[in-house]
Amino acid sequence: MTTFRIALIPGDGIGKEVVPPACEVLDAVGAANGFDFDYTEFDWSCERYAREGAMMPEDGIEQLRPHDGIFLGAVGYPGVPDHVSLWGLLIPIRRQFDQYVNLRPIRVFDGVDGPLRDAAGTDLVIVRENSEGEYSEIGGRMNVGTPYEMAVQESVFSRRGVTRIVDYALDLAETRGRQLTSATKSNGIVHTMPFWDSIVEERCAERPSVAWDSEHIDALAAKIVLDPRRYDVIVASNLFGDILSDLAAGVAGSIGMAPCGNINPEREYPSMFEPVHGSAPDIAGQGVANPLGAIWTAALMLDHLGHDEAAVQVVSAMEELLSSGGPRTADLGGTASTTEVTRALIDLL
Ligand code: NAI
Ligand code: MG
Repeated sequence: MTTFRIALIPGDGIGKEVVPPACEVLDAVGAANGFDFDYTEFDWSCERYAREGAMMPEDGIEQLRPHDGIFLGAVGYPGVPDHVSLWGLLIPIRRQFDQYVNLRPIRVFDGVDGPLRDAAGTDLVIVRENSEGEYSEIGGRMNVGTPYEMAVQESVFSRRGVTRIVDYALDLAETRGRQLTSATKSNGIVHTMPFWDSIVEERCAERPSVAWDSEHIDALAAKIVLDPRRYDVIVASNLFGDILSDLAAGVAGSIGMAPCGNINPEREYPSMFEPVHGSAPDIAGQGVANPLGAIWTAALMLDHLGHDEAAVQVVSAMEELLSSGGPRTADLGGTASTTEVTRALIDLL
């Protein structure tokens, strides 16, 4: 029997409420398919920061390294600035483990009333560059506190970085609807975006099996709302991909259902899986968080671990739960608790 070693970082708020349901689902689907999980839990969080002055210990990255995967709930706690939680935990893990793909599938499930009149059947994946781009540490502030105060922040786009994310998106498109859309803004951002576009064109020319086009990010945002079904795989820079994926998750009905993988495709390092949503302090502690984002995230991890059939079983159970009018949490218009949704899903599995 294969045992996967998983590092669990529940984090703060509802992160701690959605990780146990995801583990229950992983254990159930593992038992049915002949593998299991050995979890190691880490209390790294904003609560730890408030107590000890750091999100994770100094050798945190080393502690994570031997695992087959990392599963994170969410971090964020009132009183701890958001850049502390991001740059003290998530970004170091993504960068040290070269998790350069941020994978965010979006679907409008039957039985979920999204905000759009006609979005049924929407099924797309946003492939966000996760290691460079607009989220760089290069820059600074000058003349702080004077009338001449200024701030500069540089974007970083490398040939290697753009090439590998576009290639990953093309590989993914080949396994899906064979259609790739690149998000650009080369009319306004005149150095990095034309560079991005030229590499997209180069890589796509080598992959005639995938149809592709390129759209300016502003127009693309409007089209995702007006006609989300037309998209299959969208490849985007770090910032554009971040914004588009929350937009698309909104289109799908609830951010509480959106999954995410931070992936090192070469498997030199563990990949990290986390629902898109944050720690939701407004509903934390009430037992009403939607566990489906974390559960779908667990399916992404199963896929990455080579158990794609088990991943399909989990997503099929979600489809069945939602389309049959099964219990759902308040964000989806229901009254069920986190536990009730989890139980119903495991029964279907
Ligand atoms: P959020 O995602 O925590 O909440 C936004 C809204 O969606 C809230 O009304 C919340 O109740 C609702 N919501 C989110 N997930 C839900 C779920 N599973 N079920 C039902 N409703 C859900 O985003 P917000 O409020 O902007 O951020 C709160 C904290 O989380 C901040 O400290 C922020 O920095 C952090 N955060 C952390 C992330 C991470 O760990 N990857 C990602 C996004 C935010
Ligand atoms: Mg985001």
